[in-house]
Amino acid sequence: MNTLKIIKIRVCTTDAKDIKTITFTHPGSVQPGQFYMIWIPGVDEIPMSISTINEETKGITFRKVGEATTALATLKPGDLIGVRGPYGRGFTLSGKHVLFVGGGTGIAMLAPAVEQAKKQGIDATVVIGVKNKTELFFDKRIKDTGANVFISTDDGSFGQKGLATDIAMDLLKKNTYSSVLTCGPEPMMKKLLDLCKNIPFQASLERYMKCSIGICGQCCIGRGLRVCKEGPVFDGKTLQNIEDFGNYRRDASGKKIQF
Ligand SMILES: Cc1cc2nc3c(=O)[nH]c(=O)nc-3n(C[C@H](O)[C@H](O)[C@H](O)COP(=O)(O)OP(=O)(O)OC[C@H]3O[C@@H](n4cnc5c(N)ncnc54)[C@H](O)[C@@H]3O)c2cc1C
Ligand code: FES
Repeated sequence: MNTLKIIKIRVCTTDAKDIKTITFTHPGSVQPGQFYMIWIPGVDEIPMSISTINEETKGITFRKVGEATTALATLKPGDLIGVRGPYGRGFTLSGKHVLFVGGGTGIAMLAPAVEQAKKQGIDATVVIGVKNKTELFFDKRIKDTGANVFISTDDGSFGQKGLATDIAMDLLKKNTYSSVLTCGPEPMMKKLLDLCKNIPFQASLERYMKCSIGICGQCCIGRGLRVCKEGPVFDGKTLQNIEDFGNYRRDASGKKIQF
């Protein structure tokens, strides 16, 4: 899995404003929450969570934010990309009823986790939070699993006006969940962790990555926890003791950037 495979893109779709999915043939088992390193020839190699998991094919879903993702967005079926992985630890799915909370592009990697949970017979409630309705994607895909879906937009252009954490807070008051699983902006996930003191909690983190195989130390948080190896999914007990969580990340040079 440390070998770079050069693979032809099969399908490219536009899912929402600046959000695209690329699927390719990559047989093998993958845990929801794991990620690939994607090489865009002549541009860069970047970490991407796996958003579509089938036996033979896999997919990544990304937002156009900078040089690499903009180049990725111009690729077409038949173009070549490099794929390394899968890497990292994904979500542990268990219990009777799981609450999933996804913010922004975070919903991309939660989608296969919801699908897997439903296949295992676990009830799923999903909160999707986006800035406005043009940024909403995978809501139909998630509803089709039979999950109970709640949507919030910051500007009220779709679903409930406000933040995903507002809906989550309400649901947590009214219902009992076996665990809460989340991916999205870190301040959102930190707020959620503070609401889930007595509920098992898992969050998927993003940090700047170079090697992605636990060697370079670039992605460390807390006392030497490597996001690429011990994460990207961490449990609530671990995150409660990590000062970085929800506060800052580091750029490629190691400089602290506040969230
Ligand atoms: C485990 C993991 C999973 C991810 N999954 C997704 C996903 O499913 N969809 C998605 O849209 N994005 C995902 N990202 C973020 C994605 O890797 C960055 O947005 C991407 O690298 C940006 O590259 P760029 O050249 O387009 O933008 P840049 O202008 O280079 O950077 C934009 C932002 O991305 C960050 N970034 C740049 N390079 C890296 C890198 N090598 N490692 C981590 N962060 C970087 C920068 O610090 C900056 O905040 C994931 C990141 C990690 C660590
Ligand atoms: S990216 Fe090198 S240790 Fe994680």
